[in-house]
Amino acid sequence: MAHEPGGPIRRDRLLEAEAGAGEAELDQVLRPRTLAAYVGQKRVKENLAIFIEAARQRGEALDHVLFSGPPGLGKTTLANIVANELGVGIRVTSGPAIERQGDLIAILTNLEPRDVLFIDEIHRLSRPVEEVLYPAMEDGAVDIVIGQGPAARSVRLELPPFTLVGATTRQGMLTSPLRDRFGVLGRLEYYSPQELQEILERAAAALGVEADPGGLAELAGRSRGTPRVALRLLRRVRDVAQVRGQGRITAPMAREALALLDVDEAGLDRNDRRVLAAIIDLFEGGPVGVETLAAAVSEDVETLEDVYEPFLMQKGLLQRTPRGRVATAAAYAHLGRVPGSQGKAAAGEQGALFP
Ligand SMILES: Nc1ncnc2c1ncn2[C@@H]1O[C@H](COP(=O)(O)OP(=O)(O)O)[C@@H](O)[C@H]1O
Ligand SMILES: [Mg+2]
Repeated sequence: MAHEPGGPIRRDRLLEAEAGAGEAELDQVLRPRTLAAYVGQKRVKENLAIFIEAARQRGEALDHVLFSGPPGLGKTTLANIVANELGVGIRVTSGPAIERQGDLIAILTNLEPRDVLFIDEIHRLSRPVEEVLYPAMEDGAVDIVIGQGPAARSVRLELPPFTLVGATTRQGMLTSPLRDRFGVLGRLEYYSPQELQEILERAAAALGVEADPGGLAELAGRSRGTPRVALRLLRRVRDVAQVRGQGRITAPMAREALALLDVDEAGLDRNDRRVLAAIIDLFEGGPVGVETLAAAVSEDVETLEDVYEPFLMQKGLLQRTPRGRVATAAAYAHLGRVPGSQGKAAAGEQGALFP
């Protein structure tokens, strides 16, 4: 599978930075373990609940499941919940981690009956490895070649029944033979502020942090619709509240922390604004090709397309057109730019980003 240069490496670093030191343990505490504790994503949850119950009643493995959506929306969490609700084991790996066909065959043949095999970033499986998955998913078997040259023969190995759970930030990059072999497709959406507030309330309780509803609402509205971002903001606000106040998260405390983190009123962070400012200041508002834009903001194309653009589009600040990316009138207004006078900031510190 072709990758943009630098894409995979950058992405790994990005995810690593997201997790952060010491935060992995907190994550274990905060991660919901059941569908009931998983907030939002109503349609995906309803579907899963039915299919899981049916599989459980029949004592069969659940059909293969694919979760897609931007980073931080809860794909890994759901994969673990699926295994937990089925009462089976889970084996976790990722597309780039499976280098050879033999690696995947070894994993598959070692599964217990009805186990979940979770492959994160499944769109990054190499083609030869992916080809092992087709018969495994469809016929519950893998073909291995024994011997060499004219004496070589192919032997079919039956696998224990299993459920493949795949996660991807880009469903569009999956090959269609792979996509077609999933029986359940769960496309995750950005969360509403109300849903994020509920996640934050549960997390604050689990962490033993006192918080005003107004303080959490401030965070929920500015978390890019993403639980991972909301939880990260909660941890930072907790620090601010501890150092500057009595430890209680109030609305002013939340606003102070958000200002420190450079998250603006609309919930855009510095990088979101950098992307919009580049389109407006460097490319006269667009259209500009995605590769050119990525180079201008020193990001790889994958991060731009998976992390920044979906959120900016959902906010109505950016459009994808056949000719490239375009900043909307709302984007000009948000950055305090005047359409037609590109490059000259009307007011504010934003202009300093691209002097
Ligand atoms: N629906 C949800 N309810 C509660 N917490 C959630 C939910 N979705 C995600 N989270 C939390 O957000 C964080 C990121 O979720 P994760 O499953 O790692 O996202 P992804 O795999 O899609 O990048 C985790 O700490 C998880 O506990
Ligand atoms: Mg994940």
